[in-house]
Amino acid sequence: MRKNVDFLVIGSGIAGLTYALKVAKHGKVCIVTKANLDDTATSYAQGGIAAVTYNPDSYEKHIQDTLIAGDGLCDENIVRITIKESTERIRELIRWGIKFDKTTSGKFDLAKEAGHSEYRVLHHKDSTGREIENTLVEQVRRHPKIEVIENNFAIDIITEHHLGIEVNRRTEHITCFGAYLLNPRTHLVDTILSKTTLLATGGAGQVYSTTTNPPISTGDGIAMVYRAKGTIENMEFMQFHPTALYNPLEKHSFLITEALRGFGGLLKNSEGKEFMQKYDARLALAPRDIVARAIDNELKILGDDYVYLDCRHLPKNELINHFPTIYAKCLSIGIDITRDMIPVVPAAHYTCGGIKVDEFGRSSIHHLYASGECSCTGLHGANRLASNSLLESLVFSNRASIDAIETAKNIEYNENIPDWNAEGMVYNEEMILITQSLRELQSIMSSYVGIVRSNLRLKRAFDRLEILYEETEALYNKSILTPRICELRNLINVGYLIIKAAINRKESRGLHYSLDFPRTIEKR
Ligand code: FAD
Ligand code: SIN
Repeated sequence: MRKNVDFLVIGSGIAGLTYALKVAKHGKVCIVTKANLDDTATSYAQGGIAAVTYNPDSYEKHIQDTLIAGDGLCDENIVRITIKESTERIRELIRWGIKFDKTTSGKFDLAKEAGHSEYRVLHHKDSTGREIENTLVEQVRRHPKIEVIENNFAIDIITEHHLGIEVNRRTEHITCFGAYLLNPRTHLVDTILSKTTLLATGGAGQVYSTTTNPPISTGDGIAMVYRAKGTIENMEFMQFHPTALYNPLEKHSFLITEALRGFGGLLKNSEGKEFMQKYDARLALAPRDIVARAIDNELKILGDDYVYLDCRHLPKNELINHFPTIYAKCLSIGIDITRDMIPVVPAAHYTCGGIKVDEFGRSSIHHLYASGECSCTGLHGANRLASNSLLESLVFSNRASIDAIETAKNIEYNENIPDWNAEGMVYNEEMILITQSLRELQSIMSSYVGIVRSNLRLKRAFDRLEILYEETEALYNKSILTPRICELRNLINVGYLIIKAAINRKESRGLHYSLDFPRTIEKR
């Protein structure tokens, strides 16, 4: 099948859906997602969206908090743009129908999370992402100019390479003409030609064994752009959330929001003692990198698998009312958070690096935009401030839509693009080759490229990954494609980018901590 659209959108989280709703007034839009429309990381967001709402908060305070968390690597211009545009983007979400909690006085009920100097996180109970996703999905489903293609997998963006023209990392002008899409039911690959394309494919937490990310978070967009010779940056900065629920029976870790620590929850070790005072004066609300490393250290000292979050001293009714999802989830596995301590452990949570984009979400490849967790705008630097990512998606999807609407007016479709060539490919009957390689990859990344790294661990990871890469490429090149093999290939690609960036960073900064280079190099 071949199809032409003005605006191709790959991904249906907050970044893809808000962009689609904006460009839809200006042409034909097609949203593609590899799962169901609402199978996104967005749906799992708990804490909320950081935005300046009332005095004594100010843009300047939010800007400074973001810069401090980013540990010297934020792009200050991007930080200022994001935070100054936050007010209008929040108003827009409310106009779309999203409801944020209010106090009895009618003001927004703002929460506080780590690294924030003020209460500024707008939320909907502890299920903000679900409220956002459901409302946006409803808007998109009823829009006459938006076509939705669910359960189809974007394999690669189309560039000059597919016309037989050599493209390498030094090529100055690479153009995106659309994308190849795999329909897993027919095993056929469709060609979608587009005037402009937005990648909103989310993060890559699945490259680690323990992650708060859903199964869709396999770094596909980042790997596609890397293969197309586009620019990727800051991949060494993978954020580990300090408090995922410890439950070995579950693959996808359930998050215990930081807002619970903002509400007064205390971190304790297996001896029932608080330990954060040994690590940082801000205690359990120190930036995430510090809290995650502190927990990692406590676990190593005591030989434990988890620490505890203690909420037993908090007012029972308010606790249940503010955090109903967490209360119900914990109760379902026999933990009553009003009476029992919650076992928690750090888990891979947020990919700070990604497809490098400018202030209008433009990637290094012409007519290709990226927004949301797959992108790297410069907002987060070496460590993301909590609840800044939903905001980043809103701001840069809006900015990308403004640019794409103008750009699309002057573009013709490239009808010379060939269809996908699947000649000579065979069915891979042995799924074990894929599932076992995935497990190996996740184990390598978790053991050697986790919260604390060293030269030796990174070298070992690099060497092991090389073998997995060779084996997987050989399999991919002869197989009739399935989403599973494409995801494995993408995750190996992402693992390589994380390790390479970590090896090249000869210092510790933000989320990257190396035993061999424990200091941060001062910038001149
Ligand atoms: P996603 O919402 O992940 O959507 C990605 C989309 O791309 C999906 O539709 C997926 O199917 C599609 N896709 C991917 N690859 C392909 C492919 N090859 N072909 C077709 N489709 C593809 N941030 C905050 O600011 N505040 C919070 O409170 C917060 N809480 C969080 C809690 C949890 C448990 C998690 C996991 C994250 C949280 N985050 C939070 C981070 C935030 O939710 C994400 O960064 C954000 O939602 C990402 O949105 P996105 O649109 O970029 O991607
Ligand atoms: C949380 O609720 O703790 C997650 C917030 C975030 O990741 O921004």
